[in-house]
Amino acid sequence: MAANDQDIQKILASFNLADEEYLALDETEFRARFRERIHHTLEIQVYANAYRGGKPLGDKQADTVKRLVALWEKRGLSRELPEYGYAQKLLGFAGARAAGEPVDLSPFAPRPLGDTEREAFFTIVKERRSVREFTSRRVPDALIDRILEAGLWAAHSCNLQSIRYLVVREEVSPGLFRGSDVPGGPVHLVILQDERVYRANPLNPVRNRLLDAGAAAQNIALAAHAIGLEGVWLTFNDEIAGRLRKHYRIDGHISLVTYVDVGYGDQTPCPIPRLPVDEAVLGRDR
Ligand SMILES: Cc1cc2nc3c(=O)[nH]c(=O)nc-3n(C[C@H](O)[C@H](O)[C@H](O)COP(=O)(O)O)c2cc1C
Repeated sequence: MAANDQDIQKILASFNLADEEYLALDETEFRARFRERIHHTLEIQVYANAYRGGKPLGDKQADTVKRLVALWEKRGLSRELPEYGYAQKLLGFAGARAAGEPVDLSPFAPRPLGDTEREAFFTIVKERRSVREFTSRRVPDALIDRILEAGLWAAHSCNLQSIRYLVVREEVSPGLFRGSDVPGGPVHLVILQDERVYRANPLNPVRNRLLDAGAAAQNIALAAHAIGLEGVWLTFNDEIAGRLRKHYRIDGHISLVTYVDVGYGDQTPCPIPRLPVDEAVLGRDR
């Protein structure tokens, strides 16, 4: 076998660990593997099968997820955790399809938007500005949580869910961002990633990691504007990242990727015009 084939075999084997290996993983990696396996071995197949008499579902299609559910139980993880409930739901769908029964996915159809809601989305997208001056008004924790939740609802490669956060209030931990373009906060929402989750899929291109963080950051910037705050997406250097790592005792498997400052805006910059769509599209079928 060529070295390349051996590498591929090794990668494929890494998706299917022995029970003892699954049980020995730290919880973060186990849960990431659980999510990845649900996504790639059952979710996609069930949905492809459930529509328009789609692709047949193999007898053993649910076996990987059933096995991981058994390992979840063996590890004593809570049934309240979101991926456990999702696995049960998909197993229910797969069971129904295997019995030849229809699966009704219509309860999950998104609610149709009215014209006002639709336009509100585009207003939020176009009226979000990078705002770099803020009033001293305190941002309530409840608003911060809503914004952070929006970041977690961003698309994420392979459903690995690597996003973690630091919430740094300048008034509580002053000076950590000195040297950045907007050192004053008032609230710095730092986007971290738990790199352990990416062990769950060695085939996931490394560039997806940054894209995962970027997707979260964009949701965060938009959510802040939607909720009545303003902010700016910023870049930190290694010195600032090092300071944050030390101050919050962040473990080595967590990377500090980027951050968004939010607060009550005290500045209304003129929108920066964007390229016309026609100029941005380099190829187009009609
Ligand atoms: C990845 C990224 C990094 C950025 N870093 C900085 C930064 O370090 N300092 C800064 O003042 N603005 C930063 N920005 C904000 C951009 O300057 C701003 O989004 C751009 O000029 C467009 O303006 P707008 O956001 O008001 O539409 C960053 C934006 C992104 C997406």
